[in-house]
Amino acid sequence: MIKLLYASVALSGVLAAAQYPTVLSPVTREGSTLLVDGKPWKAVGPNIYWLGLDENVVPPDGEPYDAATKSSYPTKGRITDALATVQALGGTMIRSHTLGTNLGNPLTVMPELGVINEAAFEAIDWAVYQAGLYGIRYMVPLTDNWDYYHGGKYNFLRWFGYNLTQANDSQNPEMQQFYTNQAIVAAFKNYIEKLVTHRNQYNNLTYAEDPTIFAFETGNELQGPRNRDMDCPADWVRDITGFIKNLAPNKLIVDGTYGVNRTHFDIQDIDIFSNHYYPVNTTKLQLDLETVEGADRAYFAGEYSWVGPDDSSGPVNLVSFFDIIQNSSVAAGDAFWSLFGRNLPDCNTFVDHSDGFTLQYNNPTNSEYTNSRIQLIRKHFVAMSQGKEIPANETLPAVPCPAPALS
Ligand SMILES: *[C@@H]1O[C@H](CO)[C@@H](O)[C@H](O)[C@H]1NC(C)=O
Ligand SMILES: *[C@@H]1O[C@H](CO)[C@@H](O)[C@H](O)[C@H]1NC(C)=O
Ligand SMILES: *[C@@H]1O[C@H](CO)[C@@H](O)[C@H](O)[C@H]1NC(C)=O
Ligand SMILES: *[C@@H]1O[C@H](CO)[C@@H](O)[C@H](O)[C@H]1NC(C)=O
Ligand SMILES: *[C@@H]1O[C@H](CO)[C@@H](O)[C@H](O)[C@H]1NC(C)=O
Ligand SMILES: *[C@@H]1O[C@H](CO)[C@@H](O)[C@H](O)[C@H]1NC(C)=O
Ligand SMILES: *[C@@H]1O[C@H](CO)[C@@H](O)[C@H](O)[C@H]1NC(C)=O
Repeated sequence: MIKLLYASVALSGVLAAAQYPTVLSPVTREGSTLLVDGKPWKAVGPNIYWLGLDENVVPPDGEPYDAATKSSYPTKGRITDALATVQALGGTMIRSHTLGTNLGNPLTVMPELGVINEAAFEAIDWAVYQAGLYGIRYMVPLTDNWDYYHGGKYNFLRWFGYNLTQANDSQNPEMQQFYTNQAIVAAFKNYIEKLVTHRNQYNNLTYAEDPTIFAFETGNELQGPRNRDMDCPADWVRDITGFIKNLAPNKLIVDGTYGVNRTHFDIQDIDIFSNHYYPVNTTKLQLDLETVEGADRAYFAGEYSWVGPDDSSGPVNLVSFFDIIQNSSVAAGDAFWSLFGRNLPDCNTFVDHSDGFTLQYNNPTNSEYTNSRIQLIRKHFVAMSQGKEIPANETLPAVPCPAPALS
């Protein structure tokens, strides 16, 4: 009887493990170095902002679509295609906005203040679950400074009666209400809690538990009323990072301020500082790395333009930018802006996005120049993630279509 009970418990344990595999070890930080299983780990990959919700594809009739924001859910095939592409590039991670800032329209996680839309989790759950099996981790911003289809700080402002728009209110000091109005701060915390305690339908782990998400970022390009003022108040950063660490103690936390603000160095819950580069700029990168050097934290180049052209003698040079990151003792890695893939289930067309920074790996219509840029990225990622030197002109490995859904 006792033996039988024991056997059945053991058996159900085995079944549960097989049904809900966890494959990744957590990422930890020691000083400026990120570690996995005690060994240095580099975070390199693309930004893929659309994994939880897209704005670039009109789905077939009958599929969920919000015409006002052009929002639709990416297909499962598009998500696995993107993950297989990151592997082919030698990447280890993805920075993805819509896994974390997903609110304010009917297809999102929080369409209205305090209301949760369970259907919105399906794409996010799938993206997190499959990435775990592909061995690829995520950095996830929890809000956005900008007023885009997937929502961010403007939705919270509007929900509390501050009718601000990005177009002409950028100088408006009321913008700071997002950080200073305690009702808004409480609503943002409630949003964060609902998101990170959500249990994934595919692996039964909350996002807080699942090591596939290695880092939460307080937000994307957060600033104050003036462009690039880094006026993301330290009190707010301390409050929000403490709140995230409490809910998800095994995650790293990125300060989502747009630039490295030294007044945030004494906030202990920040693991990583970051900045974005349009165009890449080695002078600016060196300054940011030097700034972080004394802070005993890691640095991450969260976005940069990969397209070029390079200036052989000036600071706009992708190869030098990569060299500096590879040589730096505080740089944990970088993520280019931004990757798109095939429009599955259609394997023959690629999804386009009009910001001028769209990278479509293995697109047969890519120019030789574009493929040479992709080769530079791959060479850099492989050097960072595997410590291997590959020739810059090594043929780009093909990604099968459809890429397998793993289990
Ligand atoms: C908010 O502002 C926009 C334009 O700036 C205006 O069209 C809209 O009616 C305003 N909404 C409210 C609720 O005041
Ligand atoms: C602000 O921008 C909106 C949308 O572009 C426009 O409708 C509105 O008139 C502008 N308001 C001001 C005060 O310029
Ligand atoms: C999922 O995890 C929760 C919390 O650990 C547990 O109570 C529940 O039984 C699990 N569900 C399945 C299907 O394993
Ligand atoms: C940095 O953060 C502080 C504290 O929140 C803020 O007062 C300041 O405006 C920010 N910007 C710079 C450039 O220091
Ligand atoms: C590069 O960055 C430096 C330092 O921030 C700046 O002075 C310079 O104008 C930038 N150059 C380009 C081409 O963006
Ligand atoms: C990086 O380090 C290598 C090897 O020490 C050196 O040859 C190269 O000049 C360095 N590059 C930069 C941009 O510092
Ligand atoms: C790659 O570059 C090397 C050195 O410039 C050259 O010898 C080789 O033929 C090139 N390989 C390809 C596939 O273009």
